[in-house]
Amino acid sequence: MNRSEVVKALGGVMDPASGQDIIAAHLVENLKIEEKRVSFDLSLPPASASSKFELHAACVEAIKSVDGDAEVHVHFKQGKVKQTPAENRKLPQVKNIIAVASGKGGVGKSTVSANLALALKSLGASVGILDADIYGPSIPLMFGLQGKKPQVKNLNGKPLILPLIAYDIPMISMGFIIEPEQAVVLRGPRLGAILNQFINEVYWDNLDFLIVDLPPGTGDVQLSLAQTVPITGAVLVTTPQDVALADAVKAMNMFKMETIDVPILGVVENMSWFSPAELPDNKYFIFGKDGGKTLAKEAGTMLLGQVPIVQAVREGGDEGTPVFLNDEKPAIQKAFDKIAKNLLTQVAIRAEYLEPTKVVEIKE
Ligand SMILES: Nc1ncnc2c1ncn2[C@@H]1O[C@H](COP(=O)(O)OP(=O)(O)OP(=O)(O)O)[C@@H](O)[C@H]1O
Ligand SMILES: [Mg+2]
Repeated sequence: MNRSEVVKALGGVMDPASGQDIIAAHLVENLKIEEKRVSFDLSLPPASASSKFELHAACVEAIKSVDGDAEVHVHFKQGKVKQTPAENRKLPQVKNIIAVASGKGGVGKSTVSANLALALKSLGASVGILDADIYGPSIPLMFGLQGKKPQVKNLNGKPLILPLIAYDIPMISMGFIIEPEQAVVLRGPRLGAILNQFINEVYWDNLDFLIVDLPPGTGDVQLSLAQTVPITGAVLVTTPQDVALADAVKAMNMFKMETIDVPILGVVENMSWFSPAELPDNKYFIFGKDGGKTLAKEAGTMLLGQVPIVQAVREGGDEGTPVFLNDEKPAIQKAFDKIAKNLLTQVAIRAEYLEPTKVVEIKE
């Protein structure tokens, strides 16, 4: 067999994560052809890991179309998450910064941030969480870290805050710094200073993703964050009902403003339906239907997934063990697994096709 025939045949195999063929996506390495024996490494980003079986079959079929007697050996390699190009990178060791946002409060941003982080982790990505909800931080409670204080260490002559770690995820939150009952009254510049500290004075290790759990709305925190770091993209969380949707559209419009210009990577519809434990196949659409789909359409993005209302989600959040880690509820685990995989795809597409992210400059 000749090499160019083999390469051409493999060029017909699609990588579901990037939507490109495996040759164009540079996934094939160490291609060797010895008479009838074809072997190569296929380096798969975490999103495609689940498609191994299909990809393997498609590669074998492609090569057999060149020579029916070919003997095909595919070695799968864990590929790396791509770094989104960014101007003026403040955190060079962090490949992607994902803001989790909503217009309305209480729709499940923190729940989505926590479980999405764990789902990405389970796919092989390294993940950290920055709780940017300065006024009402919920990440410490969700990860069972209330009352814990981060240490400060001198590294390279600079004092840095060490994030706290739960389930192998480093995280920082205002909740680690102030007492729970202490009121936080901060305005623009002070608020910006705190976010800046969370980014520049925290020891963030190499990360594929830093998930930023935002407070609700379109206020100072969102703007300060966009001014401090280049955000890869935003994930919008909404419930299916119209009021949440109306607010989510405002959040969407903020990210799309010419001066901010953060791409919307996708929408998560939370509390999509209720299924009682005793009738797990029944779905009750308490908050209406299709809000997520409508918002995704308006934002020109994809619906990453839907999360039903399940008591274990709330319990997990309150008990410090996010529901993703709870094997008893595979429906929720499955939902977050799908959301994480879709997000990886969206990030890969973003890294490939959109303009580099940039820090927002305020024009007076
Ligand atoms: N799918 C779900 N099923 C059951 N309970 C849920 C679900 N999603 C979120 N909750 C619960 O709803 C409450 C609000 O969720 P969460 O704190 O994640 O929302 P939020 O958008 O971060 O709120 P805030 O705007 O105050 O930051 C929490 O008690 C959480 O456990
Ligand atoms: Mg929250």
